[in-house]
Amino acid sequence: MTRTFSGVKPTGHLTLGNYLGAVRQWVEMDQHRSDALFCVVDLHALTVDHDPARVLRLSRQAATLLLASGLDPEVCTVFVQSHVGEHTRLAYLMECTASDGEMRRMIQYKEKATREQARGGSVRLSLLTYPALMAADILAYQTDAVPVGDDQAQHVELTRDLAVRFNQRYGHTFTVPRAVLPPVASRVMDLQDPTSKMGKSHAATAGIVYLLDEPEVIRKKVMRAVTDSGSEVAYDPEGRPGVANLLDILAACTGERPEELAGQYNSYGALKKEIADAVVELLRPLRIRHAELCADPGYVDGVLRKGAERARRLARPTVDAAYAAVGLMPAL
Ligand code: TYM
Repeated sequence: MTRTFSGVKPTGHLTLGNYLGAVRQWVEMDQHRSDALFCVVDLHALTVDHDPARVLRLSRQAATLLLASGLDPEVCTVFVQSHVGEHTRLAYLMECTASDGEMRRMIQYKEKATREQARGGSVRLSLLTYPALMAADILAYQTDAVPVGDDQAQHVELTRDLAVRFNQRYGHTFTVPRAVLPPVASRVMDLQDPTSKMGKSHAATAGIVYLLDEPEVIRKKVMRAVTDSGSEVAYDPEGRPGVANLLDILAACTGERPEELAGQYNSYGALKKEIADAVVELLRPLRIRHAELCADPGYVDGVLRKGAERARRLARPTVDAAYAAVGLMPAL
C-alpha cells in the first residue's frame, strides 16, 4: 500500500483554499486509497512572529477541523508534529544535506522574508531552514505521495532532491516522494485581490473565506468578490483572473470544468450567487461536525494521542537508519 503524508500549519483559521487545494483530497481519496498520515505542523508556525496562546488555540482548532472535514481516525493517522520528536531529529540531517543556496531560492522564503523585513522585523533562521523540516516530515514516513496545493510544489520538489542526494551519498534510505495537486483549484486566489493566493495568515480578511465563517458571511464575501472589467463570463486566468478564480471555485464545488461553466452564466451576479450557495452547502456539514467535536474535546485528544503513538512507531526506524547511515554512533 502506498504511503501518503501531508500537513497544515496553524498560523491562521483554515480557509477555502486549504480545503479545496488539499484537505478535500485527503478526505475523499487519500485516506481510503493509501496508508495516510495528516499532521498539524505546529513547529512550522514558529518560523514567523507568533503569539504562543494563538498557536496553541489554532493547533487544536486545525486538528478538530480536519476531523470535522471527514478524516476518519479509523482509517488514517492524524497527529501534531511537535508530539513526534523524529521530525526535528531528521530535520537536522536534512540541514546537513541541503545547501544554503537552495534554501534561499525558495519562493515562500523570499516572499515571507521580504514581508518581515518590510515590517521592520528580523527574519528567523527557522524561516530559511523551513524546507528542511518539511522534508523531514515527509521522508520520515517513507512517503510516496504528498497531496498539496500548488504553492507547496516547490518545497516537495526540494524534498525529492534531498532524498535522492541523501540516498546517493549514504545508501538507499528514503523513498523519493512526489507532489499530487488537485485537478482544479490548486491555487485559490483572494476574492479581493485575485492576483494573490487566498492565504490564512493575510491581514485583510474580506477576500478570504474561512471554513468556519457563518453562511451569511460567506455569501457577503462571495457577492463582493472583485471581478474584471467587462461583463461576459469567460474563463481566462491570465486576462481575467477574478472571474477565472470564481469559476475555479465553482468547478471544484460541482466537479465540472471551469471552461464549461463559463458558458452557463450571462452575468457576474448570477455566477456569484451560484458560488455562494455551492460554498455554503459544501461547508455546512463541516461546521455542524466541528461544533459537535468542540463539545467533546476528550475525543479529539484521544485521536491525537493515538495518532502520535503510531507516527512515532512508523518514523523511528527510518530516522534511526538515517542516523546510522551518516555515521552517528547508535545510543549505547
Ligand atoms: P499551509 O498550512 O500553508 O497549507 C495547507 C495546505 O493547503 C494548501 N493551500 C492552498 N491550496 C489552494 N489554494 C490556496 N489558496 C491554498 N492555500 C493553502 C497548501 O498548498 C497545503 O497543501 N508547508 C506547508 C505545511 C507542511 C507540509 C509538510 C505539507 C509542513 N510540512 C509536509 C505537506 C507535507 C504549508 O505551509 O501549508
